Amino acid sequence: MKNTGGTDEAKRRAGEAAAAEVEDGAVVGLGTGSTAAHAIRALGERDAEIEGVATSFQSRQLAIEAGIPLTSLEEASVDVAIDGADQVADGDLVKGGGAAHAREKYVDASADRFLVVADPSKEVDALDYPVPVEVLPDAHPVVAERVRDLGGDPELRAAERKDGPVVTDNGNLVVDCAFGEIEAPRALAASLSEIPGVVEHGLFVGLADAVYVGTDDGVRVTE
Ligand code: 5RP
Repeated sequence: MKNTGGTDEAKRRAGEAAAAEVEDGAVVGLGTGSTAAHAIRALGERDAEIEGVATSFQSRQLAIEAGIPLTSLEEASVDVAIDGADQVADGDLVKGGGAAHAREKYVDASADRFLVVADPSKEVDALDYPVPVEVLPDAHPVVAERVRDLGGDPELRAAERKDGPVVTDNGNLVVDCAFGEIEAPRALAASLSEIPGVVEHGLFVGLADAVYVGTDDGVRVTE
């Protein structure tokens, strides 16, 4: 499920401001989504001497179009990652609106610095956005049962343009799990990770180093 609020202008400001922080020679984790896409394009337009590590098929394609050479985690370590979010509360995130959160999480978490880029519609006092959970395909009914035990309301994500479920870049399915207001994100993150059949979930707790929010007339950065 994607949080589609926010103007493209605000997203552009955030993406471009984060891209401006990247120094030549850096290996950059390239996030997924419309806000991270602005950062990828800005890095390409600047002709920055960088290498990218893609977090999804989408960001890989964008990097190729932008002329950014790609590398992998086997060949390089990530200096800085720039990625979007569906919701941000005090630096903790819900991600996975683009079903890319599994790869996003280990690329973003491995970076020396992880910069989140967002528009103001993503900012909240407490996370309450449904948490995307990537599951092995035949595990979705048993994962859904365990999510209900945790007080959540699971829904298998359906593809928008064809019948059937969304399939991730890894060949798995996504269950969006609504918990209402998430009072203890770290505890919920641990509980979701423990469920057999779960590949990764979209709660990013304590991973972000800075949040860049594009506003009407500038960018607000929270470290
Ligand atoms: C993809 C993500 C995206 O970063 C998130 O959905 C935000 O996207 P956008 O910048 O288009 O609002 O987590 O899995």
